[in-house]
Amino acid sequence: MDANNKRIALVTGATGGLGTAMCKQLFTDNYRVLANYRNPEKAEKWAAEMKAEGFEIEMFLGDVCDFDSVEKMITEIKEKVGVIDILINNAGITRDIAFHKMSKDQWDAVIGTNLTSVFNCSRHVIADMRNQGYGRIINISSVNGQRGQFGQANYSAAKAGIHGFTKTLAMEVAKKGITVNTISPGYIGTDMVMAVREDVRQKIIDQIPVGRLGGTFEVAHLVSFLASENSSFVTGANYAINGGQHVY
Ligand code: CAA
Repeated sequence: MDANNKRIALVTGATGGLGTAMCKQLFTDNYRVLANYRNPEKAEKWAAEMKAEGFEIEMFLGDVCDFDSVEKMITEIKEKVGVIDILINNAGITRDIAFHKMSKDQWDAVIGTNLTSVFNCSRHVIADMRNQGYGRIINISSVNGQRGQFGQANYSAAKAGIHGFTKTLAMEVAKKGITVNTISPGYIGTDMVMAVREDVRQKIIDQIPVGRLGGTFEVAHLVSFLASENSSFVTGANYAINGGQHVY
C-alpha cells in the first residue's frame, strides 16, 4: 500500500493496447498504477495522453527481458512508491512466421519478452509479497497458448509456458496470501491483432461465436477483479476471454 492506503499495481508493457486499458481501469478502481515501458519516446507521448485524459499513472523504465534491468526498476519503485501489491505480467510481442522459416532471433525475442519476462518480474517482487503476506500476480497469456496457431510456434510456446508457471507458483505461495492467475485473451481489437493480414483476420473473426473482436476494456475488467481482495480464493486459474472461439 502507498501512503494513501492505495494498493500499488505494476503493469508491464503498459503502453500497448491491453496495457493501456488495464492502467485506466485500475486507476478508476482506485489503485496506484505504475506503468512499465521500454521505449522512452513512445512512453512520453503515452504518458502525456493519459494525463490529458485525467489518469495519473507513474512511469518506470525497464527491459522486462533483462533480469538486472528489472531488478533496478523494482528497486527504484520501492524507493519512490513502496512495495508492489499487484504485478500484471502483460508485456508481449509477436514475430509470426511459419516454423520452417523461423529464425533463432525470432524465437529468442518472443520467448524473452513473453515468458522470461514473467520469471524476471515475478522473481523480483515475490520476496516482498511473501513478507507482507499479500500479493496478486496476473499473467497475460493467450488463446493461442491454449490451442496453437499457424505461424506462432514461438508465441504459443511462450504463452503455454506462462500458465505452467502460474500453476506452480500459485501452489508455492498460496499460504502467503498471494494469488497467481492467468488470463488467456482471444483476439482483441489491439494493434497487434490489427497487424494480422486482413483476410487471415477476417477468417479468424468468422470463427468467434460472439461474432467480433474483443474490447480491451473487457480484459481490463477481468484484470481488475483478479487484482482485488475479493478474488482471494481464485488461484492457479486460467481465465479464457475469447468470445467462445476456444471452449474446453
Ligand atoms: N492456416 C493454414 N495455412 C496457412 C495459414 C493458416 N493460418 N497461413 C499460411 N498458410 C499456408 C499458406 O497458404 C502457404 O501454403 P502454400 O505453401 O501451400 O502456398 C504456407 O502456409 C506458407 O504461407 P506463408 O509463406 O504466407 O507463411 P508465412 O510464414 O510467411 O506467414 C503467417 C504465415 C503470416 C504467420 C500466417 O500464418 C498468419 O497470419 N497466421 C496467423 C497469425 C496470428 O493469428 N497471429 C495473431 C497475432 S495477434 C496475437 O497473437 C494476440 C493473441 O494472443 C491472440
